[in-house]
Amino acid sequence: MKALILAGGAGTRLRPITHTGAKQLVPVANKPILFYGLEAMAEAGIVEVGIIVGDTAGEVRAAVGDGSRFGLTVTYIPQEAPLGLAHCVLIARDYLGDESFVMYLGDNLLREGVAELVASFEKQQGEAAAQILLARVPDPQRFGVAELDGSGEVVRLVEKPAQPPSDLALVGVYLFDARIHDAVRAIRPSNRGELEITDAIQWLIDGGHRVRSQILDGWWKDTGNLDALLEGNRLILEAIEPGVEGLVDGESRIEGRVVIQPGAEIVRSIVRGPSIVGERTRIVDSYIGPFTSVYYGCEVVRSEIEYSIVLEESHISDVRRIADSLIGKQVEVSRTERGPRAVRLMLGDHSRVDLF
Ligand code: TTP
Repeated sequence: MKALILAGGAGTRLRPITHTGAKQLVPVANKPILFYGLEAMAEAGIVEVGIIVGDTAGEVRAAVGDGSRFGLTVTYIPQEAPLGLAHCVLIARDYLGDESFVMYLGDNLLREGVAELVASFEKQQGEAAAQILLARVPDPQRFGVAELDGSGEVVRLVEKPAQPPSDLALVGVYLFDARIHDAVRAIRPSNRGELEITDAIQWLIDGGHRVRSQILDGWWKDTGNLDALLEGNRLILEAIEPGVEGLVDGESRIEGRVVIQPGAEIVRSIVRGPSIVGERTRIVDSYIGPFTSVYYGCEVVRSEIEYSIVLEESHISDVRRIADSLIGKQVEVSRTERGPRAVRLMLGDHSRVDLF
């Protein structure tokens, strides 16, 4: 079985971070989100992976390479514009051939991986044309939603319904056999101008093909917005293997599940887990609180951070306290005693700031 991983898209909900980088490469617990998906494919015994790439193709290629690091053979499939999830299947037709495949949204995080799902679809030998994964959510209006019959078979799918028929949201992992290729060719773009995968699956159902579903046990996060991204970071950190490889001076305290990566330095500071401090990052006279990931080459001085993600090579000084935040690459945040009491900002387009 092959895999199709979707790593294009517009990423509007994560602006301004996505003005300068791929959202699938934002690190969660100091590892790009996309890598969790690639590892899940390898774990499921898949070798051939096609990655759909858009404007950020160069960055994704540089990070993933030929896939050999993950035990995978990666082929890149450029998408000219984010024309929808079903459009991704359409342009991958030649790559996928007539084999069954797993389609995986590159910004999704799943605790359980996909091995069981892949195995169960292979075993059923074409009885169902597709298998989807569902999760119960409190706000189904925001998702593709499934309506099931008594035996768990899908009878209807609706994209972001005002009146949801159930609380079962589509998780970003789908299994298809070759019949999906007819479906993505048959459907028309939706009101938002995209070829919707929900419409393609509905086309299969309407044509009398079976679509099976499975309800997810473990957690799942679509990290496409800030809250979900921070939650994903929290969930991964909660299960991280602790270990101190960097330097921690005698005046510092490491509490709980903490990773200090090689070359990091903790000086007169408290790092409270679950949290991770990246390579060559210096934490000086500061407090790193729970559920925080600070990536490589950063400097945090006389500051406090918690429940946040800081990207590479950023500098933070004299700020008490940063919380619930995503800080981009090479960002500088500081406080000065001089001048009037005011906030001085130079923010990129679509930045968001909450002041208290
Ligand atoms: P979405 O998060 O649904 O879409 P998006 O990336 O355009 O984000 P936003 O809504 O914030 O503007 O996409 C899910 C995944 O699929 C994500 O990894 C991007 C990828 N994708 C493609 O590769 N091509 C596409 O045409 C679309 C719509 C998404």
